[in-house]
Amino acid sequence: MSQVIDVHTHYVPRGWPALSDKDDVPWLRIDSEREATIMVGSKEFRRIADDCWDARVRLADMGGDSVDVQVVSPTPVFFSYDRTPAEGMKIAKIFNDVALEICDPARHRLVPFCQVPLQDPELACEELDRCLAAGHRGVEIGNHVGDRDLDDSGIVMFLQHCAQVGAPVFVHPWDMPTSPRLNRWMSQWLTGMPAETHLSLLAMILGGVFDRLPETLKICFAHGGGSFAFWLGRLENAWYERQDLVGVSEKPPSQYTGRFSVDSVVFNPASLRLLVDVVGVENIMLGSDYPYPLGERPVGQVVRQAEFLSDTDKERLLGGNAESFLSLPARQEV
Ligand code: CO
Repeated sequence: MSQVIDVHTHYVPRGWPALSDKDDVPWLRIDSEREATIMVGSKEFRRIADDCWDARVRLADMGGDSVDVQVVSPTPVFFSYDRTPAEGMKIAKIFNDVALEICDPARHRLVPFCQVPLQDPELACEELDRCLAAGHRGVEIGNHVGDRDLDDSGIVMFLQHCAQVGAPVFVHPWDMPTSPRLNRWMSQWLTGMPAETHLSLLAMILGGVFDRLPETLKICFAHGGGSFAFWLGRLENAWYERQDLVGVSEKPPSQYTGRFSVDSVVFNPASLRLLVDVVGVENIMLGSDYPYPLGERPVGQVVRQAEFLSDTDKERLLGGNAESFLSLPARQEV
């Protein structure tokens, strides 16, 4: 039996040292014993609760949802790729060290992923190595650094390093475009994030990253890979019909679907079924976006209730695939 492993959850510490002398960095306003608000400058970014930082609360929720293991990743607002490399490194170290503390009470069930100062790939490799030695099991990265996408030569160097040291990579959309049109109805989250992730997969494929990197790279994209699965046909058609602009990868885009994983947090059975058909049952892992309101609760509900999945396939989605991704042992039978 595989363990049930949720590869997409986030943490926020209950406070941290001042990150910078500038006033546009995130800080935490403590509202009560169990509640706080992430502030950016004087603006409220997100209200959160103790499920962000308290292992006991997380473990109780995991028990309720029958989840054995969570991958505990940073919350993207703290990536800080727009800071100087030195500032980015300092912020990464602060959060990575506190992530270990949050996971310490149950390290076999709460598996930390670090963040790195991706604006400086050499520092990013250095911090990844430090974190892997300290107990992190992989890394979460934002899907772009300003105008640089995942095919940027520095980011590709970092991904190469991840492949070399066997660190799994979780790609999370962040820093979405903003405009009056996108600032209504959570549109940055509801249309921006899926488009960002879709663009990242284009960068990996059309930017030739999968052609250059070894197949050993373990990389997973959040939110079911965004809009990619639904529009792979459009991409494929463009690759053949506009070879002058799009036909730049060695193979047609559909040939790369075995090179990456996606999580399962797509909320309805029809979308999950499309993912299974397009990226394959061996490349989907349970994810929830816990503990945020746009996450799935109970965790894994859509996978567990999917009538089109066999019991064997459900087990792969719920944890078998993630055991390989994370190099975790299967559950020991007693
Ligand atoms: Co998330």
